Amino acid sequence: MDIVTVHHLHKTFGKGESAVHALNGIDLAIEKGKFTAIIGASGSGKTTLLHMIGGMDIPDEGEVIVDGTNLSGLKEKELAVFRRSKVGFVYQNFNLVPTLTVRENIMFPLSLAGATSDAVFFSEIMELLQLQDRLNAYPQELSGGGQQRVAIARALVSKPSILLADEPTGNLDSESGQNVLGLLKCR
Ligand SMILES: Nc1ncnc2c1ncn2[C@@H]1O[C@H](COP(=O)(O)OP(=O)(O)O)[C@@H](O)[C@H]1O
Ligand SMILES: [Mg+2]
Repeated sequence: MDIVTVHHLHKTFGKGESAVHALNGIDLAIEKGKFTAIIGASGSGKTTLLHMIGGMDIPDEGEVIVDGTNLSGLKEKELAVFRRSKVGFVYQNFNLVPTLTVRENIMFPLSLAGATSDAVFFSEIMELLQLQDRLNAYPQELSGGGQQRVAIARALVSKPSILLADEPTGNLDSESGQNVLGLLKCR
């Protein structure tokens, strides 16, 4: 079964002479449980595509189906529910809140949704990502690799159907980058 299907996706930013065709008829199918990397030069449309799959932006043409839900049919409120319940997103620059502790950062999206985490699953993720001793630290007290692990934990606690990561190793040295890739693959 495909967890993600993308048909003939188009997205243009701007108009007239300054228009940028970021996506030009993309087709893509990703099987459930598969680890897939999208590779391309800077500016080739990777972030734009991830935002369409995650329901964070809307295509001009084409359709995106994630875990059986066709995003084209959803209203803004339904898209918000889709994002919250089905998508984990790891941002390129982590997007952690500096004034919240590691634990608070990880729980932030769930608490906005008025939900809590299953305690057993929470400890499992903390152990996997080696964050159990850093829960009361603030993001700036962690290394780049540590902050990236917090961002991954935050994306995983809600048990999303898909985990989307935008250049998850782009800000890390090559060893930390390998470790993060290893963690993503074992999910
Ligand atoms: N919100 C936006 N407004 C205008 N142009 C954009 C916007 N987002 C992306 N673009 C342009 O679309 C193209 C693809 O960008 P992007 O998806 O960020 O590529 P990548 O992630 O592969 O570097 C680039 O030319 C970029 O400048
Ligand atoms: Mg990008």
